[in-house]
Amino acid sequence: MEKVLKENNIPFIVAILSPIIIFTILKSIGYTQGSTKSKVNPVSTHSGAYSSSKKPLTAPVITPVSDDFDWKTTKPVQYRPFKNGPYRLTMATRRLDPLDHIILEESYLERTNLRVEVLEKYGKLLLGCHESAVESVRESYDYIFKYLLQRYPKYFYTIENENGTLFYNSIRKESFPLNSTNLKPEEMLYGIARNIEEDFLILLKNPKIDEIDEYHLRANVSCFPAGFNPSEKLNTPLTSIHVPVPEYKEKLQRSMNRWFERLQPYEYMVRNNWGFQIGNQLCDPDGYQATYDELKAIKAADPKDLNFNEVFLRVEKQMFTKLPKTGGVLFLSRYYTYPLTQIRSEGEKCEELCGAIDGLPHKLGLYKRKVYWGDAVKTYLRCESNGSTNEVYEVKMVA
Ligand SMILES: *[C@@H]1O[C@H](CO)[C@@H](O)[C@H](O)[C@H]1NC(C)=O
Ligand SMILES: *[C@@H]1O[C@H](CO)[C@@H](O)[C@H](O)[C@H]1NC(C)=O
Ligand SMILES: *[C@@H]1O[C@H](CO)[C@@H](O)[C@H](O)[C@H]1NC(C)=O
Ligand SMILES: *[C@@H]1O[C@H](CO)[C@@H](O)[C@H](O)[C@H]1NC(C)=O
Repeated sequence: MEKVLKENNIPFIVAILSPIIIFTILKSIGYTQGSTKSKVNPVSTHSGAYSSSKKPLTAPVITPVSDDFDWKTTKPVQYRPFKNGPYRLTMATRRLDPLDHIILEESYLERTNLRVEVLEKYGKLLLGCHESAVESVRESYDYIFKYLLQRYPKYFYTIENENGTLFYNSIRKESFPLNSTNLKPEEMLYGIARNIEEDFLILLKNPKIDEIDEYHLRANVSCFPAGFNPSEKLNTPLTSIHVPVPEYKEKLQRSMNRWFERLQPYEYMVRNNWGFQIGNQLCDPDGYQATYDELKAIKAADPKDLNFNEVFLRVEKQMFTKLPKTGGVLFLSRYYTYPLTQIRSEGEKCEELCGAIDGLPHKLGLYKRKVYWGDAVKTYLRCESNGSTNEVYEVKMVA
């Protein structure tokens, strides 16, 4: 209760958690130090790796960025995925250009530094690998490093030393083993975490045990979880959670599993997810977990108490592809935080965002703590309040 009603100067995240994230957390299972030998071979035991109904695709050619590309001057993509009107719970995926799978923007060094910081602070709370996912993690490690070498050869290249060939990240000035054969899962996860801004998850299909063959979260690096404590959700069955994403079970579970199943190797899909974040803290694994009654007791914020430089539209870019060798679903998620001062100064999207806030169904709104921020945000976007300050300045994100 107290946690929910924290003062607004204590950063907390009002996330519009995607059904997918919730799904993966609920299905997540224990962490293993992991030998490099996988007991389960996902390809042979999980028939979902290949789908017969679609024509097989070939690997995309990852061409290098142009010579004048400079990560330091590359502005973040501006996603505005909300729509004026009633919220619709769908996967709403679209094709992703493989060249946009792992991108570099001006935030690269700052965000990867934050990742290193939170990994040092929270360590194993943020990453995990089940023994069945070791080979998919290895496949991903190889894929990501090769991708960076091909796409950004001026920043990532190989160097030779007494230990053989290393992958060199000239922006972070760090090197990593290129040959993953003898790496432990944890070493690979740390390597992935330090080189890309995206959070990383592997989903594997379980053998037929349930009514439907569900995909389970089997490995992850989640540096920037939004407003919940992921480890509390370990081993929790879907039906026993206090605050389910309303309508998830009925509408999404089946279709999502089918969707993962049909996703093909070399097929790239993307979807966006949006919410609000209050405060500049990106990683909050100790974040609150309120019960339904606690949620109902939340009071509306007074817009005069909120500094809208520190209230962000938080948009996730969730990307999916299927790993060709192991059949795992590689799920990368990148986060954007756009201050509401910026959104309001742009003008045109304000009414649309207000309409999208109004369009959230009651239960989903409760879950997303709309009662707290909803009216305050709308008041600000409509210029009926300026919040606690009129001054507009850039707020640095912190770990
Ligand atoms: C080679 O690997 C060893 C063992 O991991 C390490 O201690 C050493 O610093 C490495 N040498 C170089 C030049 O990176
Ligand atoms: C990677 O390391 C393994 C084990 O040391 C070795 O057998 C393999 O040839 C290496 N692969 C490459 C491409 O160097
Ligand atoms: C990531 O893995 C850890 C360790 O297994 C787990 O506690 C956590 O729930 C997972 N996080 C997410 C966001 O899935
Ligand atoms: C917000 O600030 C602007 C510029 O200083 C001012 O003109 C306007 O009256 C203020 N609005 C409110 C509701 O305080």
